[in-house]
Amino acid sequence: MKKLVLATHNRDKVREISALLSDLGVEVLSLDAFPRIGPVAEDSGTLEGNALLKANAVGRSTGLPALADDTGLEVHSLYGEPGVYSSRYSGEHATYAENVSKLMDAMKSFPPRRRAARFRCSLAFVAPGIGSRTVEGICRGSILEKPRGTGGFGYDPVFLPNGFDMTLAEMDLSLKNTLSHRALAMREILPILREYFK
Ligand code: IMP
Repeated sequence: MKKLVLATHNRDKVREISALLSDLGVEVLSLDAFPRIGPVAEDSGTLEGNALLKANAVGRSTGLPALADDTGLEVHSLYGEPGVYSSRYSGEHATYAENVSKLMDAMKSFPPRRRAARFRCSLAFVAPGIGSRTVEGICRGSILEKPRGTGGFGYDPVFLPNGFDMTLAEMDLSLKNTLSHRALAMREILPILREYFK
């Protein structure tokens, strides 16, 4: 069976992406299968640049086709913050809860009309013979004043997608995977993957 490496150790991302790739007919590996590959510096300053850095580094080290995701939460009234720094918003090794708590503090005086936000996901696919491809998916919504729900990960408990009464953390994976930034980006990249692996 052909192999595809997801350029991440993040089990939450691996779970979501693996479900979206379930009918591709390839073996999906994460970086956990390659313990000798160290962390890749995500210092390009953009989501797309970081996704490319990760996919290129992992493609080069493994010799396998690699898919990388870089995601940011962009809050309009915070001028797009935390954006590309979403994973380290509250510090270099911040937990999801610490990042959410910093966001709640930063937005505590914001009325509903100033709580619009979007998730933006960049995916980069790098493979021998085709070079690199990048796509993007965006999920628009708003930030709640208090977390709700126990599913998902990261900022999901405070993100209410437009048109829904549930946060991403109140949805099961199959529903989140119909509307999330990552699912929409995967929808864009799937034809490229299908063509490559056919
Ligand atoms: P990165 O793409 O690994 O840099 O992750 C960015 C950060 O955004 C993660 O640490 C999570 O906190 C958050 N994040 C990424 N994807 C999602 C998602 O689907 N829902 C909620 N938060 C997410």
